[in-house]
Amino acid sequence: MTSVRKICCIGAGYVGGPTCSVIALKCPEIQVTVIDKSKERIAQWNSQKLPIYEPGLDEVVQKCRGKNLFFSTDTKTAIKEADLIFISVNTPTKTFGNGKGRAADLKYVESAARMIAEVATGDKIVVEKSTVPIRAAESIMNILRANHKPGVSYQILSNPEFLAEGTAIEDLVNADRVLIGGQDSPEGQAAIEELCKIYEHWIPRENILTTNIWSSELSKLAANAFLAQRISSIKFPLSTQICELLDEGAVLHIYDPKVEETQIIQDLTHPTVTNNPENVKSRISIYKNAYSATKNTHAIVLCTEWDEFIELDYTQIYADMMKPAYIFDGRKILNHDRLQRIGFVVQTIGKKLIRSAISRAWGSQTQA
Ligand SMILES: NC(=O)c1ccc[n+]([C@@H]2O[C@H](COP(=O)([O-])OP(=O)(O)OC[C@H]3O[C@@H](n4cnc5c(N)ncnc54)[C@H](O)[C@@H]3O)[C@@H](O)[C@H]2O)c1
Repeated sequence: MTSVRKICCIGAGYVGGPTCSVIALKCPEIQVTVIDKSKERIAQWNSQKLPIYEPGLDEVVQKCRGKNLFFSTDTKTAIKEADLIFISVNTPTKTFGNGKGRAADLKYVESAARMIAEVATGDKIVVEKSTVPIRAAESIMNILRANHKPGVSYQILSNPEFLAEGTAIEDLVNADRVLIGGQDSPEGQAAIEELCKIYEHWIPRENILTTNIWSSELSKLAANAFLAQRISSIKFPLSTQICELLDEGAVLHIYDPKVEETQIIQDLTHPTVTNNPENVKSRISIYKNAYSATKNTHAIVLCTEWDEFIELDYTQIYADMMKPAYIFDGRKILNHDRLQRIGFVVQTIGKKLIRSAISRAWGSQTQA
């Protein structure tokens, strides 16, 4: 079914372990090797007591381990042999520098990219599965390009993970949505196709959504932003998440029918929210209505429940946006069926969308 014969996953953690176990279960003809720099972690994956507990995981691992699922510290061999490599390493919050305390630290992602650059000898599809800031794929690509070797070529894909701890296997086996972002070139599309073919072993094609890398990365961050807003009771979480998007290079058009421009700027430049108020100011523009604010944008993030937002002419808004046009309904107040019929990619939290093509409720309290 697919020309990918061998998969390697860098990072045998909460995401890499269960995801690759399910891929091995559903794709018996593909050899899946999960590698980690931690010898202890790999030893646990190879033991009777797995390093994480997830309902259903033990059974999947028992069935596949030693057949087409392997856990190893031999990173070089696994990377060298793989046609497709998932980067599924941890992305802790930065403890220094720009974005300290807020932005994700890419040091492990970058070290994984360096490992690939060092040992790869043929063509590789590199898939970022870790939750990364927007444009992380570019930084992975820069590392790979800077270490270019003859006869080696790379395609980078973004395939964010939305599983939640506690329901990881259920979320993976019955995923009602998979998101894959790739480069807008024939080679990029071919790489997307290869990853689609893997998921198509058990996920209906209409539930596999393909887009560009940037939109895919943004989707995950926006889903997390809603989550932070929902579970936090302090005043600034939304502003903090907005500043995180700004740190990553996003440009924001803001419209709020009830909050004055000066108040919005004051909230977004508060010292508890950003240490770079000038950067924030230079990247936001405040608009007088929703139509001008959404014109020529990639995504709408709905953060407040004003009735006005329910009654907008979304057909007109869609026509004026860049495509694919995303709408993140952080308040769950919009008619999602209608928006999907118009053409929007709709994302929300805490509720399943009805339509089959895009039916997954993104996010849960434990998602990262
Ligand atoms: N845990 C969740 O529920 C969840 C859900 C969705 C997305 N995510 C995201 O997925 C990513 C992975 O999360 P996780 O929970 O699996 O992390 P984790 O900490 O459980 O596992 C990461 C593993 O990567 C290994 N690692 C780091 N650098 C390495 C390198 N260069 N070579 C080999 N191994 C290396 C670490 O030793 C560790 O075992 C993060 O970006 C996270 O934000 C997590």
